[in-house]
Amino acid sequence: MRLIKVSDEEELSRLAAEYVFSKIKSSEKIVLGLATGRTPLGMYRHLSKYSKEYKQSYSHVHTVNLDEYVGSRAYHDYMQQNFFDHIGIHKNQTHLPDGIAVDLEKECKRYEEVIIQLGGIDLQVLGIGQNGHIGFNEPGTDFSSRTHVVELTESTLSANAKYFTHEKQPRRAITMGIGTILESNEILLLASGEKKARALRELFQGTMNSDIPATVLNHHPNVTVLADEGARSLLEEES
Ligand code: GLP
Repeated sequence: MRLIKVSDEEELSRLAAEYVFSKIKSSEKIVLGLATGRTPLGMYRHLSKYSKEYKQSYSHVHTVNLDEYVGSRAYHDYMQQNFFDHIGIHKNQTHLPDGIAVDLEKECKRYEEVIIQLGGIDLQVLGIGQNGHIGFNEPGTDFSSRTHVVELTESTLSANAKYFTHEKQPRRAITMGIGTILESNEILLLASGEKKARALRELFQGTMNSDIPATVLNHHPNVTVLADEGARSLLEEES
């Protein structure tokens, strides 16, 4: 695992966007795994700006998102507003789990199939939950799990409650599994702020265990972590 130290959220956003943009520019075909939440917002803002400046075509790009709430389109709307609307990507090249599907089990299988049909994920962008979750894979999730429905923990519900001012906050979500995420060729994890410091310490200095799902990334051969000062504040070498 490589750790790239940045000073703050702005630098993190810029570097992440530059990296993802360079991959988009240099690939003939690319499947990007995308994340939601507060952390990648700046990355999407910069990517949207670069795409306009360089008139970047997205005809060779497919996106697959990590997760969506059950009974909600919250992450569909987030992606549309913060990224897709700004880059001119064709709707049928963007993929998210359908949280309002009638048959959720069938939807999980369909989503796995979508990823296989696309040939797998080239670069997966991840955030990290305060409890160390990745996607919505909460503590205790099997490391070999595939796309599945999860009951969200109180910690995750309260961390994300602020995003639900217009609708009731769902207590369940569909998420790519840890096994699904680990099959990505490359992973870029973004961590910003002191609230992520404990999870980051476990990631780098803890033992691999399913109580802190992100620790599984120590298993993956190609992970880069971009972390700002706040997120690194509990790492031993920093103190
Ligand atoms: C949610 C998302 C995760 C994200 C996490 C952290 O739980 N499902 O993919 O990494 O929140 O979000 P934030 O960046 O807002 O701290």
